[in-house]
Amino acid sequence: MADPRTQADPGVLQELAVRATMAAGTELLRRYGHIEGLDTKSSDTDPVSDADRAAEALLVEMISAERPDDAIIGEEGADRSGSSGYTWVVDPLDGTVNYLYQLDNFAVSVAVEREDSGALIGVVLDPVTDRLFTAVRGGGAFLNGRPLRVNDPVSMRRAMVATGFGYEPRRRAAQGAFVGRLLPHIRDIRRFGSAALDLCSVAAGAVDCYFEEGINHWDHAAGGLIAREAGAIMTPFTPTGQDRGWLVAGPALHSAMTDFAVTVRD
Ligand code: IPD
Ligand code: CA
Repeated sequence: MADPRTQADPGVLQELAVRATMAAGTELLRRYGHIEGLDTKSSDTDPVSDADRAAEALLVEMISAERPDDAIIGEEGADRSGSSGYTWVVDPLDGTVNYLYQLDNFAVSVAVEREDSGALIGVVLDPVTDRLFTAVRGGGAFLNGRPLRVNDPVSMRRAMVATGFGYEPRRRAAQGAFVGRLLPHIRDIRRFGSAALDLCSVAAGAVDCYFEEGINHWDHAAGGLIAREAGAIMTPFTPTGQDRGWLVAGPALHSAMTDFAVTVRD
């Protein structure tokens, strides 16, 4: 059993995270366009297929082979405890609905977290465009090796805001109502369909802000680190009172959005 105080080399963890992510991305592309084993999860609009399951199995197999003492949690059920103090948080296919419809915007997302200090490594791959987003805590964020920086300062009036909607109808109604209140105050809204890529888009300055309520740990574990390493502030954000909500933006816009949510609530 590994000594829990042992520190792994972040470079070694990142190299494995990138290799496993790329293998999962290749598996998703191999299956793209011919969906098998289609099923639903939390609601009848929340799909899962053999592609999600096969990509997660591959991630778990590759990670376990080299890091047998690490814990792994994944969207499709991976739930392995560990003794090393490291946890891999994987979303084998973020943007499953896009994948189903062959809308080319989905990702493999892999993070490594330390039990005592949180996210250490973040890797997000868009396999269709071969965009590989990476971050090691304290070392900045990169797209295919090029450093990333969030847009800042950005005013509300100029803000391009990405968001998403949960799979549960009542959640959606409240989320839609908040977006309705927000729209007159910002440049525009985008709903791309992959939280992990939305977070990387904030990091890359392709949008100015991302917020969403009801997202899961594996949706934001890697992309959140990438956005923060590119200069974003990421804090809990629940403008409609739902759980697991996050607001991610450069400092000026983050502060303006936080103030706006308070005025809407009052
Ligand atoms: C979903 C996507 C989507 C977001 C949902 C997530 P999935 O993940 O990230 O953009 O709006 O909240 O559940 O189900 O495609 O892995
Ligand atoms: Ca997801």
